[in-house]
Parts: sequence; C-alpha cells; structure tokens
Amino acid sequence: MKRVLAIETSCDDTAIAIVDERGTILSDVIYSQVEEFKLFGGVVPEMGSRAHIEQILPLTKRCFEEANLTIKDIDAVAATFAPGLIGPLLVGAQFAKGIALARNIPLIAVHHLEGHVLAGYFLPDFPKAPFISLIASGGHSALYLCDEHFSIELLGETLDDAAGEAFDKIGRALGLGYPAGAKIEKYAEHGDPKRFNFTIAMQREAHFNFSFSGLKTKALRYLAELSHDDTSKADLCASVQEAIASALSERAMRACKSRGIYSLVLGGGVAANTRLRTLLEQECKNNDIALFLPPKRHCTDNAVMIAKVALLRLQKGLFSDMKTDVRATLSIGQKDCLYHTALP
Ligand code: KG4
Ligand code: ZN
Repeated sequence: MKRVLAIETSCDDTAIAIVDERGTILSDVIYSQVEEFKLFGGVVPEMGSRAHIEQILPLTKRCFEEANLTIKDIDAVAATFAPGLIGPLLVGAQFAKGIALARNIPLIAVHHLEGHVLAGYFLPDFPKAPFISLIASGGHSALYLCDEHFSIELLGETLDDAAGEAFDKIGRALGLGYPAGAKIEKYAEHGDPKRFNFTIAMQREAHFNFSFSGLKTKALRYLAELSHDDTSKADLCASVQEAIASALSERAMRACKSRGIYSLVLGGGVAANTRLRTLLEQECKNNDIALFLPPKRHCTDNAVMIAKVALLRLQKGLFSDMKTDVRATLSIGQKDCLYHTALP
C-alpha cells in the first residue's frame, strides 16, 4: 500500500499529513499561527516563514508518531508549491525536496486550489467528474469546472475581495480579531439577517464573477452609524453572512444550470460556514443538484487535501523535480506546469 507524506505551508498554517493510496488518513496534524497574528490583524509573511521553519520538523515527527510509521514507510512526498506567500511556500517546498532527495522518492508539487477542489476526493459520496466546484476562502472565491481528466476551467472569480477576506475585514471593524469568519458566524446565530440590506452586486448577470468590496464598504458605513451593542453587532453579522452566502449560492446554482452539470462540490475556509452549507443544501435540493460538502476540518487549509491531489498524480505517473519552483501566483489552469517529468 503506497503512502504519501504531504506538506501545506502556503499561508499561516503548518499542516502535515500521511494518506495511503486508498485515501485513508493515517495522520493529519496542523499548527495554526493565528494567535501570533492576532496582534497584527492579518498574516505577516516573514513571521509566517519563521514560524513554519520552527514548526515543520517537530510537526512532521508528530505526524509519523501518530501514524505509527517512519520515513522509510513513505513512497512519495508532496507539498504546496503555488499559489501563496512566497516565503512560507519555500519552507514547505524545500523541506519536501530534501526528503525526496534523501529518500530517493518522487516529489509532487501541488496547486493549493486544486487541493481545495479535491479535499473530499476518495470519500464515498464524492461525485464523479465532471462537477462544478465553488471555492471560497480568505484569498480566493471562484467557480471551477473539473472534468474527467482533472483539467480545471475557471468559470468565474471575485473581481475584488474574496469572501473570507470580506468576513475578515468586516470582523476587524467589529473588533472580532483575525480571522473573523467563524466569529461572525457565532454572532450571527442570534442576529436578524434581514435588518441590514445588502444589494448583491452583479446578481442575475450573465457571468459568474463575484464582488464583495461593495458589501464590505456598506457594512463599514452601517457600522459607523450604529451603536455597538450586542444586538446590533449580531444583526450586522447575520445580514453580512446572509448576503455572502446568497451571492455564493446564486452563482453556483447558475453555473451548474448553464453548464448542465448537476454536481456541486464546496471547498475553502468559508465552506465551514453553517449558513452557507444549509443554503446550498436547500438550493441544490430545489434544483436537483447533488451537493458534496467536505468535512469542516478539511475546508480550511490542511495537508490531507494536498495528499489527495498527490495520490492522483502518483496514479498517473506524473511527478515534479528539483527544478520545480514555488510560485506566489499561478492560475489553476496552469497547474500542469508543476509536473515536469514522467516516472523517475
Ligand atoms: O482556506 P482557508 O483556511 O485559507 C485560505 O486559503 O485563505 O480560509 C480561511 C478563510 C478566512 O478568511 C476565514 O475567516 C474564513 O476562511 N472562515 C470562515 C469560517 N471559517 C473560516 N468564514 C465564514 N464562516 C466560517 N465558519
Ligand atoms: Zn486555502
């Protein structure tokens, strides 16, 4: 049974996992740097790189201990090579290259967003391709079409802020700290989603792009006029959450119907949001669309999703090599440039 060691360090989580070729998770560990960045209200890339350097070795050791395996039991090593913060990406990629060289095993470079798209792959109810994928995270909000060959076409994306970024910026203004998505969700539980009106930009237009910066500006304007009591905060959180969830769901339904593809997969950190999940469940039911929701732990950044992509490349005999470089930006359509060589 082949096993992949996977490393994810594209932003502020150091994540390591070991997954076998059937998709069974043998170990899945994460060190989140969130506490370190609370003071700054966001990620400081150089601090992130240093924290990854400190954490990567002890975390990898813990990952092996939890799986009850040693490095000799690993058949390939994978890491996120793009897109992301260049310093943090370099830490994970160089670490993976070192292991691949030392152990003479294949190296597989992975595109972070393909990881989010395929986070649920190998789970029994994961749909057969083609399917539409809605990815909403702190850095990205996009709709993709994934075909039988794992070729991924971008259907639409945010023209300004990502959904998670909008949650985080509004949350910061509300004094909820960073990241704020989960905290806005908590406040929203007791709020009135109809109290504040947010017109959803570009709804019913022909394309599938998103725009969240207008919503953010409007929320900040409401906030300036509001007394900051708990009821108002809760109402604003509920209204913002409803607007973001509706915008994501509306584009996703339209993309499925216009392409005649009746399978939808959700991914990215915002996919952990319960209101978004419930709304998509309702809308998919109304439109006869099969919906796949990954477990919440595997919506936010993790290394299991990187391992799953790597296993698919391993099956196909597609590998990277020591010349493969990390890339701060790389569209998902260009992911195949990460694979230079056939079987070593
Ligand atoms: O995918 P992810 O872990 O990192 C990126 O690649 O960006 O996503 C992090 C984003 C943050 O913006 C965070 O506020 C948001 O996901 N998030 C949520 C929830 N949990 C995380 N947004 C809304 N509701 C949540 N429950
Ligand atoms: Zn992510």
